[in-house]
Amino acid sequence: MTIGICNDHAGVEYKQKLVAYLKRKGHQVVDFGTGTTESCDYSDFAHPLANAVEKGEVEKGIAICGTGNGMAITLNKHQGIRAGLAWNTAVAHLVAEHNNANVLVMPARFASYRMAVSMVREWLATPFAGGRHQRRIDKIPL
Ligand code: RB5
Repeated sequence: MTIGICNDHAGVEYKQKLVAYLKRKGHQVVDFGTGTTESCDYSDFAHPLANAVEKGEVEKGIAICGTGNGMAITLNKHQGIRAGLAWNTAVAHLVAEHNNANVLVMPARFASYRMAVSMVREWLATPFAGGRHQRRIDKIPL
């Protein structure tokens, strides 16, 4: 699978490790930055990732910032994005199963790297349940 990934300065270390992890698992990874710990604005990186998911240039996306909220709020401005914020494996399962999240958002400052790997693994492995959840998703667009 081709996966896009982005982060702000709070998520650089997790992003670098996750890129290596995903490649080891056989995925192609497109890195939308940032590549440094210099203070930056999450929205500068969230929009390019969202655009790539919407255009089908990447199949899914992963976004990381301090709390995850800046990334999630920005990503969800895009009509084609369902960005789900997860902080443990059970929530990562549900954002795939119930919300069909095409972007997984994680809070680098409030989840361990070990947990981040577990969340990514679970989100990628969990199919969308459809049914009543599809009906709810269909009512999201403004
Ligand atoms: C950066 O300090 C922090 O505000 C950012 O990573 C994120 O938590 C915003 O929602």
